[in-house]
Amino acid sequence: MVTQMKERLEQIEKEASEALAAVVAAKDLEAIRLRFLGRKGELTAVLRGMLSLSPEERPAAGLLVNEARGRVEGLFAKVESVLAAKALEERIASETLDITLPGLRPAIGRRHPITLATDAISEVFLGMGYEIAEGPDIELDRFNFEMLNIPKGHPARDVQDSFFIDDNIVLRTHTSPVQVRAMLTRELPIRIICPGRTFRIDELDATHSPVFYQIEGLVVDVGVTMGDLIGTLKIFAESVFGKDTQIRLRPHHFQFTEPSAEVDVTCWECGGKGCRVCKFEGFVELLGAGMVNPKVLSMCGVDPDVYSGFAFGLGIERVALCKYNISSLRLLYENDIRFLQQG
Ligand code: PHE
Repeated sequence: MVTQMKERLEQIEKEASEALAAVVAAKDLEAIRLRFLGRKGELTAVLRGMLSLSPEERPAAGLLVNEARGRVEGLFAKVESVLAAKALEERIASETLDITLPGLRPAIGRRHPITLATDAISEVFLGMGYEIAEGPDIELDRFNFEMLNIPKGHPARDVQDSFFIDDNIVLRTHTSPVQVRAMLTRELPIRIICPGRTFRIDELDATHSPVFYQIEGLVVDVGVTMGDLIGTLKIFAESVFGKDTQIRLRPHHFQFTEPSAEVDVTCWECGGKGCRVCKFEGFVELLGAGMVNPKVLSMCGVDPDVYSGFAFGLGIERVALCKYNISSLRLLYENDIRFLQQG
């Protein structure tokens, strides 16, 4: 019985090799594959025939069938690679390449309006000798709040609704912790701006976003005064919004500055005459600022009897919206390519 099977296998191998030798195109292979290797093919039929063998004969017979299958598969692979090489050669011979055609221009990305605004603001301060300082988005409560004179449980925390990771770790609610880090590590005098991403719990609408960008600034030196702060902010406002821009300070309260002010600039829409953008005020609120609280200086290892400093902070989106005449904050985050391509 096994001898018979062996003969049958040899015959199948011979037939397969003859059939393959006659193949000229890859599309003809499939039918032959089905005939010999398919589930209803010749080799499977031989395998089925094993049922009539005695249990002792079966292992040797099974081995024979598998070996034969391996050899037939090898034949197929060989023919396939020859056909593939032939097809490639034919394609190369038939295709022509016109090297005089102009190429496709690669699409070049644009800078995002937030990046544009960040760069425009940074430019002004770099020109005044400031350095750029950066810090982590995920911050210690100590640097984000406590060392800025906002202890745990203090009501001043309420205005900065925060994403806490645990009791001591928070997504920074402003870039002020970069200033704390700078005072702890840098040599004095310090003159830095801190651009970066910040996080507060807020619904996304035309003027709010849970993720937004800030630039804060810090100067610490001997004899720094409120006059220096006002002069600096005036230069900044004129450079970013135009020569005729006025600034206006209103008394305010921040835990980390004393005295503190909110700073408005001439409305960019109406130039100060009064319109809907400025709610007929002629001015639009842009910054928080003040003289660094002596308590903050000493917590950060700076002697307030020798040094003084000013700090300010502003939202970059606000600047981007007005500078580039964008109607809603949402547009900055939707990533609509038609909007971004205008940059
Ligand atoms: N850190 C303040 C905020 O995000 C802004 C600010 C910075 C105010 C520096 C005063 C001085 O609300």
